[in-house]
Amino acid sequence: MNHDRYSFHDLHPAAESFLEEVIAGLSRPRKELSPKYFYDARGCELFDAICELPEYYPTRTEMAMMQAHAAEMARHLGPGSVLIEYGSGNSRKTHALIAALGPIAYVPVDIAGGQLKTSAARLAAAFPGLGVVAVCADYSRLLKLPEIDNISARRRVIYFPGSTIGNFTVSEALEFLGYARALAGAGGAMLIGVDLKKDHALLNAAYNDARGVTAEFNLNLLCRINRELGADFDLAGFRHHAFYDAAVGRIEMHLQSLREQQVAIGGQAFRFSDGETIHTENSYKYSTDEFRQLARQAGFDASHCWVDPQQLFSVHYLAVPR
Ligand code: AVJ
Repeated sequence: MNHDRYSFHDLHPAAESFLEEVIAGLSRPRKELSPKYFYDARGCELFDAICELPEYYPTRTEMAMMQAHAAEMARHLGPGSVLIEYGSGNSRKTHALIAALGPIAYVPVDIAGGQLKTSAARLAAAFPGLGVVAVCADYSRLLKLPEIDNISARRRVIYFPGSTIGNFTVSEALEFLGYARALAGAGGAMLIGVDLKKDHALLNAAYNDARGVTAEFNLNLLCRINRELGADFDLAGFRHHAFYDAAVGRIEMHLQSLREQQVAIGGQAFRFSDGETIHTENSYKYSTDEFRQLARQAGFDASHCWVDPQQLFSVHYLAVPR
């Protein structure tokens, strides 16, 4: 590996706060856990498997859009910039964009360090002229990039694919977009993938796949809590429950207790009544107009967006005014 062009910065996300956050989330009247904890090694594997499922349309749709429109997107983003990717995961959607854009540096930011290392090194190898600065961090709390080379002096563009913005509530999304706008800075920009509102049956199927991969992904969170925090969740005592709430415009994922039971975590006991749930994820869906409005409220100039022919998914180009 060429260390001049590839570096890894570990800002140590989550490690200290995992136990505290789990205890706080399970102590609430309506129990909840943050979806950012899905992504341990097994969780990353399961999420990659979700992306290949016939029912899970977002990944393949966005991927095709990135391939079809990379050149046009690159024209909007402009040359000579630093490309920062939030929640880069396996960085698969970024290849076409990097090839078309030719950024001076690529800064993938992800909470899952192992996968980040592998995919960042692979990208550095695939693009010999590109500096790759991997940052292991929780991007929702990232207000400042580590001081690296002359990255802060360049025009910054943030790439946030996958409709991961959907994990935030609308007010959280607004706050997050404000932070992202500040990090991009005047004259910077953001390219963001946003899942569209659509037929409820299609939405429900995408989060209730026939093979049960999404169920395993959801339940793996309990597995991780058992392993890393020494808890004693009985995985057979919970089931995956996901549904689209049209009034709010979001998919909710829950883990539902199949009986009355008690679970011990860090010396503390948590009781579950029969049927009680832990809310593990929100996945908001936005019409193009709804999202444009939100981006404008956050101070972006929402000028252009791409939608696939089946109107399943959108990619918005948001500029930060000078
Ligand atoms: C990675 C947050 C975009 O909300 O669709 C997939 C995660 N959860 N199936 C989504 C997920 C269940 C995914 N995001």
